Amino acid sequence: MKSDIKLITDEGKRLDGRGPHDLRKIKIEAGVLHRADGSCYLEWGGNKVLAAVYGPREAVPRHTQNPLKAIVQARYNMAAFSVEDRKRPGPDRRSVEISKVISEALEKVILTEYFPRASIDVNIEVLDAEAGTRCAGLSAAAVALVDAGIPMRDIPVACAAGKIEGQVVLDLGKEEDNFGDADLPIAISPRTDEVLLLQMDGHFTVNEFNQAFDLALKGCHTVSEIQKKAILEKYQSVVAEVQE
Ligand code: CDP
Repeated sequence: MKSDIKLITDEGKRLDGRGPHDLRKIKIEAGVLHRADGSCYLEWGGNKVLAAVYGPREAVPRHTQNPLKAIVQARYNMAAFSVEDRKRPGPDRRSVEISKVISEALEKVILTEYFPRASIDVNIEVLDAEAGTRCAGLSAAAVALVDAGIPMRDIPVACAAGKIEGQVVLDLGKEEDNFGDADLPIAISPRTDEVLLLQMDGHFTVNEFNQAFDLALKGCHTVSEIQKKAILEKYQSVVAEVQE
């Protein structure tokens, strides 16, 4: 959608004062829910996301079971109050799509072959949405999976880059997403840089696409460090409690 809003000032600053290569502020806390096997609360700019993991547990109904490996079922949901116009509760096309791509991304790193016939369920609740919720949701789900003790090859992480006013920038905010030219959310396994998810909205030239991809990749590595810090913080405090 084009608009008269100027997304980059003459000084090269974005609407919220960020430079082109800056991420929004991110805060992650692991293990915030007591009833789930693993959980995470994540704030990413104005996004607030809660992720809860259950399992591995017997997959039901039984016809969904795979005798060779666990199934990974992520369910992305936006709270009715998470967006400006109240969102109709329940799944819609968008949330079904996001649930599917997140499930497939997580399945690539989880050692599903350890748990035949089981299900690993990942609930992602978006409480407040301000663009980039699939990246926030996937990154929160990854921390919740670690908190649940699910064996994984790596801790997956997601971040987007986009294009506003013809310039490639990292991590689009709400107005930038609404009125910008393109958005490229990716998820990777940070140890190998294997791509687990890649979606694209809008148009990039090949050169812009490469620039955006490299920028999103760097963003992923920054978010990955914050994820690891959150996990360490939780388990260091658990160790301290045990020692006491
Ligand atoms: O959130 P993400 O960027 O992964 O997905 P999107 O489909 O590109 O949505 C971008 C943003 O639009 C969301 O983060 C919300 O802030 C907003 N949105 C909304 O206001 N109402 C909806 N029903 C869906 C999205």
